[in-house]
Amino acid sequence: MNDTFLKACRGEEVPYTPIWIMRQAGRYLTEYREVRGKSNFLNMCKTPELAAEVTLQPIDILGVDAAILFCDILIPCEAMGQGLDFHEGKGPILSPAIRDEETVNKLFVPDPEDTMKFVMDAIRLLRKELTDRVPLIGFAGAPFTTATYMIEGGTSKNFLNTKMMIYQSPELFKILMDKITASITEYLKAQISAGAQAVQIFDTWGGIFCPADFREHALSYVQKIISDLKSAMSSGTINTVPIIYFVGESAGLLEEIKTSGADVHGVDWRINLDDAISRLGDGAVVQGNLDPLSMFLPPDKIEVRVKDVLKRGESAKGHIFNLGHGVVPQTPRDNVIALVEIVHRLSKK
Ligand code: CP3
Repeated sequence: MNDTFLKACRGEEVPYTPIWIMRQAGRYLTEYREVRGKSNFLNMCKTPELAAEVTLQPIDILGVDAAILFCDILIPCEAMGQGLDFHEGKGPILSPAIRDEETVNKLFVPDPEDTMKFVMDAIRLLRKELTDRVPLIGFAGAPFTTATYMIEGGTSKNFLNTKMMIYQSPELFKILMDKITASITEYLKAQISAGAQAVQIFDTWGGIFCPADFREHALSYVQKIISDLKSAMSSGTINTVPIIYFVGESAGLLEEIKTSGADVHGVDWRINLDDAISRLGDGAVVQGNLDPLSMFLPPDKIEVRVKDVLKRGESAKGHIFNLGHGVVPQTPRDNVIALVEIVHRLSKK
């Protein structure tokens, strides 16, 4: 197997810097749009054969060093009892919005093999289809990021309802967060048992907080998930796999983030990677951090930026190349293919 990704996660020597791309299975690929045209997004997530097919597309087309399961961070919200739908052009709709005691109390901590079996089936199928070509990454949303969607009922600009609950009904927010945290912990354990060889926790909206609030309302729950997973790993209940923690707009929060317990920290593009590495401290392993929209530059200019990120990444114990956030649908497909080739070529030892 191409294990450069797993080796870099563990801070081991690698022959070149491995790369995968957040949202690598998606609308910027004509091949994805073809499958998507015959189905809808949720149906694709819930049909293991379709999820597996689009998961494999970027492996064949781009030559990335890891596969990430095709699914969505909002799938567990439905399993917890909230309605979930994706509307064309509007993004996700979750109903009813979780804003009071009644709606919080109705949510439950689901058995993942019971309610989200399709996810674990997709992982089992992918492990067979990948035949050990590259490792398979599983994932979940961090409790806070998941909670914003559940409370707002969808995507939000200023997270007003979420912050209102935090500041006006802190006990209720905590009950909700404890339920989400328990659900995500079980969900990630099930993914690892099904064969996920690494897991990433997405805290896309963690950056909306000041450091003290981030610690209390987002990071503490992630620390709990990671310490529960690590104990299950050391007791042999689940396989030992790397845990990656990605926080969006994290530049003001790195001193908090370094206490997450994760093996790898995802860094967005708003900070120089060497700066992030020194603030994450000795032995940091990082993932990132090219601006996703720099993919609209011509390949020779992308190359200049890749060189800079690789150079800055040298001070880390391990570096996995990635964009600082997901690749956007309008991105020229050929530039993404070029990016992978450039990273492999320039980082070759
Ligand atoms: O990275 C991958 O290729 C794996 C698949 C993946 C998807 N979503 C597929 C997807 C992953 C890891 C996610 C994570 C996710 N989902 C996050 C965290 C990472 C991030 O980007 O910040 C968040 C916040 C979501 C929630 C979500 N899903 C939104 C807000 C939307 C609508 C916006 C959009 O891009 O359309 C989605 C839909 C979604 N998730 C699509 C894909 C490929 C587009 C669906 C389509 O084909 O129409």
